[in-house]
Amino acid sequence: MPYICAMLQNDLLLKAAKGQDVERAPVWLMRQAGRVLPEYRATRAKAKNFVEFVKNPELACEVSVQPVDILGVDAAIIFSDILVIPEAMGLPYEMVEARGPHFPKTIQNKQDIDALKIADAGDLDYVMQALKLTKKALNNRVPLIGFCGAPFTIMAYMVEGGGSKTFSKAKQFLYTQPLLAHALLQKITDSSIQYLKGQVAAGADLIQIFDSWAGVLSEKMYYEFSLKYISQITDALSPLVPTTVFAKDAHYAIAKIAATSCQSIGLDWTIDPIKARAQAGNKTLQGNADPCLLYADEKTIIHETEHMLRSFGKNKYICNLGHGLYPDLDKGKVKLFVDVVKAYKW
Ligand code: CP3
Repeated sequence: MPYICAMLQNDLLLKAAKGQDVERAPVWLMRQAGRVLPEYRATRAKAKNFVEFVKNPELACEVSVQPVDILGVDAAIIFSDILVIPEAMGLPYEMVEARGPHFPKTIQNKQDIDALKIADAGDLDYVMQALKLTKKALNNRVPLIGFCGAPFTIMAYMVEGGGSKTFSKAKQFLYTQPLLAHALLQKITDSSIQYLKGQVAAGADLIQIFDSWAGVLSEKMYYEFSLKYISQITDALSPLVPTTVFAKDAHYAIAKIAATSCQSIGLDWTIDPIKARAQAGNKTLQGNADPCLLYADEKTIIHETEHMLRSFGKNKYICNLGHGLYPDLDKGKVKLFVDVVKAYKW
């Protein structure tokens, strides 16, 4: 979409994603629209609960723009959750305070899968409205990132019923019912593609696919049950906008992810930037500071961040953390990280 890019005052993110030369690396933070900001907590208090908060486009817009104004990041990410897809397919979720997501009903057999609908953008109209409002509120200052969960990560929640260290119920499903697992993954993939195309039509400039639970799979199973479906999504999106694939704890797969039609690859902190670069071909890399670095003193934050910037290099690089911000991080330290990236003399 060169027309829209040309109108943006700050298009560093899109240039970096496409591999074009930049004057400095762009920076944004996973979970920037979240609890690290007191302003987020104030907005969240206006909603009855998390699910209602996500469904309120005005409030979602407010917290999506906050990090741009307060932290000075180079992109906004739409405030929503990856779990809106199961809900749109017919499997509602709750967010239990201090514990995380919970699905009162889970997917166990063929009838459960048959009963799910393939969702489309119309089923998620509140996200489309939130994107349109946010796009307007940003007033072309920075790009707007849309997102979804990777089909495997979404399936893991739908089968398991909530978070888990091992996702052993979801993995049991893969080992005992592989054909049903594939049927479910395909339905989630089809829903995600329609949803993401809607997000692009509503104003998303780049799409990130979060495969947060990639790390529970073996390499062989990762290709069969996860990357295969991610690749269908990047293929469907690639004529429209750049896509980033963030597969946590799956850096053995960097070369294979690079072979998909994604434009950039998100990295967690457990891989060295130079090693990642060697496997990523000409794709852009995103990441990968340990969020816990932001608990350190200022001198350490500056030193480590600058070291990371040098290791990745200026071009084909989007600066970020290796996973989302933790809610108890100090807002000032988070801002310091952003400022160090923006002030770095290349
Ligand atoms: O990145 C952003 O700022 C955009 C908003 C966003 C949220 N969730 C809001 C949120 C995004 C991109 C997500 C993605 C998401 N949601 C993922 C993938 C990224 C990752 O962290 O691995 C996953 C696995 C989920 C599912 C989910 N949502 C969990 C496990 C939890 C509870 C744990 C936690 O971090 O609090 C949520 C809740 C959630 N989603 C919150 C926010 C701001 C916190 C809820 C609150 O305000 O109380």
